Amino acid sequence: MYKLVKPIFFSMNPEKAHHTVTGGLKTFSKIWGAKALLRSIYSVSDPRLEREVFGLKFKNPVGLAAGFDKNAEYIEDMAKFGFGFIEIGTVTPKPQPGNDKPRMFRLVNDEALINRMGFNNQGADVAAGRLKHLKDREGVIIGGNIGKNKITPNEEAVNDYIYCFHALYDYVDYFVVNVSSPNTPGLRDLQEKEPLMRILDTLQQLNLEKPKPKPILLKIAPDLTNSQLDDIVEIVTETKIAGVIATNTTISREGLRSSKELLSEAGGVSGKPLTNRSTEVIRYLSQKSNQAFPIIGVGGIHSGADAIEKLNAGASLIQVYTGFIYEGPGLVGEICKHILQEGK
Ligand SMILES: Cc1cc2nc3c(=O)[nH]c(=O)nc-3n(C[C@H](O)[C@H](O)[C@H](O)COP(=O)(O)O)c2cc1C
Repeated sequence: MYKLVKPIFFSMNPEKAHHTVTGGLKTFSKIWGAKALLRSIYSVSDPRLEREVFGLKFKNPVGLAAGFDKNAEYIEDMAKFGFGFIEIGTVTPKPQPGNDKPRMFRLVNDEALINRMGFNNQGADVAAGRLKHLKDREGVIIGGNIGKNKITPNEEAVNDYIYCFHALYDYVDYFVVNVSSPNTPGLRDLQEKEPLMRILDTLQQLNLEKPKPKPILLKIAPDLTNSQLDDIVEIVTETKIAGVIATNTTISREGLRSSKELLSEAGGVSGKPLTNRSTEVIRYLSQKSNQAFPIIGVGGIHSGADAIEKLNAGASLIQVYTGFIYEGPGLVGEICKHILQEGK
């Protein structure tokens, strides 16, 4: 089915295709019986897929990665494709438009995307308002991915993360501190030991003051060196946050086959070219930390076999974004079936 409509979507500008698909899905979902139909086609439900990770119960280990539903608009619709969890955001305290368009590019020859969206979002309060009025979560775990506004200097970044943490606290099941997007100038400098300790320590203190603290995870870039990854292990262990999401998009263009013109577009690469590097990062973190904390594996998962590789490397859960665009919504069920087959 997706094979039939994919050429139509792929003939559109990628950002327009995204809005056409999500908007169309929303309209379709309003038709009586449509949601049940989607669920019956796409969802795979089996107790052997259930996972308990950082104290939360997931109906299956396959999640929708951050960036797809930045403003918490499509949770009920996307849930019908069988995701065990959906991560909204990245949200920032104030709404911001993001970078000028075009800012998303398809590298068809590489089964990849380049994006430099720049945290376009309606702000943490709008997302919180939507989550508050969600009618049906369908047992899907919701993550809140939080970041800083472009105009906030790095020295004050911690305040932006605090703002988003408070705004979303009542409505999400876990948090993700995003310091790894390549599209907000200077953001990735916050992955350095001192500023990162400050942000995570502060959030974790606030979290522990709550009657029911929520898991806080850190999302990292695939471009970190081993010594930076060693620091990450130390920081996660010291701050006692719940885990790591590995990885965000890469700034590397190594081994890509697309035209020079496309490859010269600024932004982060996602999809197939990221598969091996993100798996390497997961394996390194898992081994170095002696599996001291859970890892959510993301980056270039386009098949059930790709997902198994991430789980074998040490991931407890996995997420998809670009694979979902290239392979279609059947990917979630395919991964679930593969996990069952492999007994993972
Ligand atoms: C268009 C686009 C927008 C994204 N926006 C975000 C974002 O706002 N926050 C974030 O943490 N990651 C964002 N990501 C990164 C994804 O969540 C994911 O980490 C990355 O794309 C690697 O996974 P994939 O190869 O399955 O796409 C975005 C990715 C894409 C393609």
